[in-house]
Amino acid sequence: KDSLDYLANKAGKRYLGTAIQAYQLADPKYTQILESQFNAITPENEMKWEVVEPTEGNFDFSGTDKASTSHEIVAEAKKTGSLVRGHNICWDSQTPSWVTSITDPTRLKQVLKNHIQGVLGRYKNDLEYFDIVNEPLNEDGTYKSNVWYNVLGESYIETALRFAHEVAPEMKLCINDYNIETVNAKSKGMAKVAANLLAKNAPLHCIGFESHFIGGLTPQDIPASMKQFSALGLEVPITELDVRIPVGANDQPANATVAKQRDDGYYTAVSACLGDSLCPGVSIWQFADPTSWIPGVFKGYGSALIYDAEYQPKSSYYATQQALKDG
Ligand code: G3I
Repeated sequence: KDSLDYLANKAGKRYLGTAIQAYQLADPKYTQILESQFNAITPENEMKWEVVEPTEGNFDFSGTDKASTSHEIVAEAKKTGSLVRGHNICWDSQTPSWVTSITDPTRLKQVLKNHIQGVLGRYKNDLEYFDIVNEPLNEDGTYKSNVWYNVLGESYIETALRFAHEVAPEMKLCINDYNIETVNAKSKGMAKVAANLLAKNAPLHCIGFESHFIGGLTPQDIPASMKQFSALGLEVPITELDVRIPVGANDQPANATVAKQRDDGYYTAVSACLGDSLCPGVSIWQFADPTSWIPGVFKGYGSALIYDAEYQPKSSYYATQQALKDG
C-alpha cells in the first residue's frame, strides 16, 4: 500500500490528515479519496463559534443543514477510524458579535465556559485534539487584540484550557498559530507563553504549526522551531499545511520552477514532522485545489494542494508520499 495514511502510520504512527467541509461528504469521489488517503480530519469551519453557537445558548448540531454542522464530520471520522482535530474556541474571527461585544469579564468567562461545555461536552469521547486558542499572537510575539485578551487579559488562555480540561480530560488541548514555523519573534513569544502556562500546570498539550507556506519560501528551520516546544514536552502537529504558488489561468502553476518549489515545500514540511518524535502528524488544509481558501484570499496564487480539479494526484502528492517513504 502506498496511501498517505498508511505511509504516515508506518513512519512512526503518525497521521496524515485534511480539513474538510461537511457538504463535501455528499460527493462520492471526494469521500473516496478522503477515506483511502487520510486518517485525520479537521472541520474547516463547522466547529467555529459562529456556526455552533450563533446565538447565545442555541447550539447547532442538527443534521438538517450539512454545510453548517459538525456532527456529519465526526460520524464520517468514526466510520473510518480517523482521528478528529477540533477547531476552534477562542479566536478573533468567525466569532459572533454577541460574544465580541461583551465587556464584563465575569460574563465573558461564563459565556466561554458554557460554550466549551456545549462543544467539548458533546464530543469529548470523539475528538483527540482541539485547537482551544487560535492565532493569539502578533508577528512581534505580543498578544493580539481580541475580545478575549482585551476583556480577560493574557490569563484567558489558561482559563480556556482549564475549562476545556475539566470537560474533556482525555483531549489534547492546543494553541494553534501561523508564522511560528521558523525561529522568529513570534515563535519565541509563543515559546514563552507555552513555558509560562506549563509552569502554572495549565493543561496545554500541543502547539499547532499552521504552515501556510509560499513555494520557494518554506522555512528550512522548521525542526529548530518545533524543538522550542517539543523540548518542553509539547506535541507539535502541523495543522493546516498548504504551499501556494503564482498561477496562471485555471489555477495552473505559472511555470515549472514554482511547481517544483511547491513540491519541495511539501517535502520539507512532512520531513520536519517525521524528524520530531513529538510531531503526531500533518494535516493539509483541504486536499483538492478547487476548494482551497488560497485563491479567494491571495490573488494570483493557488495550486496549493495535492489533488487537481479532477481529483487526480499532483506532483505535490508524490512529494508528500516520498517524504513519508524517506522518513
Ligand atoms: O457559510 C457562509 C455562507 O452561508 C455564505 O453564503 C458565504 C458567503 O460568503 O459565506 C460562508 O461562510 C464562509 C465560510 O468560510 C464557510 O465557507 C466565509 O465567508 C469565509 O470567510 C470562511 O472562510 C474560512 C476562513 O477560515 C475564515 O476566517 C475558510 O473557509 C477557512 O479555510 C479559514 O480557515 C482558517 C483557519 O480556521 C485558521 N487558520 C487560517 C485558515 C485560513 O484562513
